[in-house]
Amino acid sequence: MQSISIFGLGYVGTVTAVCLASRGHKLIGVDPNLSKVERFKSGMSPIVEAGCQEMMTEAVKAGLISATDDAAEAIRQSEISFISVGTPSLRNGKLDLSHVKDVCEAIGGALRTKDSFHWIVLRSTVLPSTTETVVIPAIEAASGKKSGRDFLVCFNPEFLREGTAVADFFNPPFTVVGTDNAKLAAPVLDLYRFLPAQIYETDIEAAEMVKYSCNAFHALKIAFANEIGTVCNMLGVDPKIVADILKADTKLNISPAYLTPGFAFGGSCLPKDLRALTYRVRELGLRLPLLESILPSNTEHIDRAVEAILAIGKRRIGVIGLSFKPGTDDLRESPMVHLVKKLIAEGYQIKIWDENVSLGRLIGSNRQFIHEYIPHIGMLLHENIDDVLAHAEVIVTATNAVPREQLMARLGEGQYLIDVATLDQPVLKAEAIA
Ligand SMILES: NC(=O)c1ccc[n+]([C@@H]2O[C@H](COP(=O)([O-])OP(=O)(O)OC[C@H]3O[C@@H](n4cnc5c(N)ncnc54)[C@H](O)[C@@H]3O)[C@@H](O)[C@H]2O)c1
Repeated sequence: MQSISIFGLGYVGTVTAVCLASRGHKLIGVDPNLSKVERFKSGMSPIVEAGCQEMMTEAVKAGLISATDDAAEAIRQSEISFISVGTPSLRNGKLDLSHVKDVCEAIGGALRTKDSFHWIVLRSTVLPSTTETVVIPAIEAASGKKSGRDFLVCFNPEFLREGTAVADFFNPPFTVVGTDNAKLAAPVLDLYRFLPAQIYETDIEAAEMVKYSCNAFHALKIAFANEIGTVCNMLGVDPKIVADILKADTKLNISPAYLTPGFAFGGSCLPKDLRALTYRVRELGLRLPLLESILPSNTEHIDRAVEAILAIGKRRIGVIGLSFKPGTDDLRESPMVHLVKKLIAEGYQIKIWDENVSLGRLIGSNRQFIHEYIPHIGMLLHENIDDVLAHAEVIVTATNAVPREQLMARLGEGQYLIDVATLDQPVLKAEAIA
């Protein structure tokens, strides 16, 4: 069992304290708010949260919980310190790190006179790189000690929801521990091994970002459900029926589908249907900013890819794969067509190859689409991939039309490959070999 100090006796700190105490760990809470400290000491939960008071009573009875406003005392009495102080917004939206900085100084000051190794686990939500650029330097400066030698800082985001926080602690979606020293982090990971959830050990910045990505996704889902529900109401459609069927699709809707970052979406349905829906929304006099922002977001994504290509500074471009996904010749609303149009406008010399798309073989709606809407792009299509590769200083690909390794293997001296589906740094043949 570990001796653990918890800095910040709010929702996260209190729930963490009572839950860890229920596992037999010895907890000391730290907070500058003396009334919270007194409540803690006397076995009264400083927050209202299902199950917390009962667990607090048990922990005090077992002599496993105490509290103080003195950081030095808490550090002396513990091997692991959790930081769960608030990280509110400033008026302009910027993250306020003042409580985090204060607590780092206090912990650092206390570590100055401590001889044994100490673990510090940051649970407050902070933006990527905060742990490495703010927290660790602040503790090193205040303690005169070195991270990785005298102490270790891990980032361990919290996923509890107020109202069900205790249940969430014991049944989380997963546990994430970000660390730059997996070996030294073992005692922190050991605290969570009893939980029925996967433990992800990552670098610190990924762990910091996972928290923001999860909260942004949760907020997005709520706003989406509300906007779709609003459209339903305005159109006289039952929002519950629609939502229930949407949720019943665990193949494409409530699933990992469409959640891997890549290139922009396109094709004959998504852009067209979003346009029709948002047009109808405007006709109804509604403002639904989330739905209306999806197409502009997609266009921005294509523009970023164009910028990445322009930044290479080479003018002869070979495009491999033009349709919106491999294995189809459908060019309608292909984001690659939009990308090529933008490069043409910049005066770039472009040759294009796509196994399924070539002027000669085009039939039906696509043939008409090319002739009517993008004849200038049709003229850039080549039957032979070798012509395109020989022409290109920069090869641009977005799909798996030709697997990346095969393209890598065919790169010539000084040629760049840029995969806009991953927006990797452009790969230069010489560097790739080295
Ligand atoms: N509340 C949630 O549901 C939840 C869930 C996940 C993550 N988080 C994140 O966890 C962090 C804490 O959230 P919270 O809701 O528990 O905050 P809170 O405001 O309820 O509690 C923060 C506590 O920190 C104390 N504090 C401030 N400065 C201190 C210092 N120098 N030393 C010790 N204690 C200090 C405050 O007095 C307060 O009691 C935030 O970063 C938040 O974004 C919150």
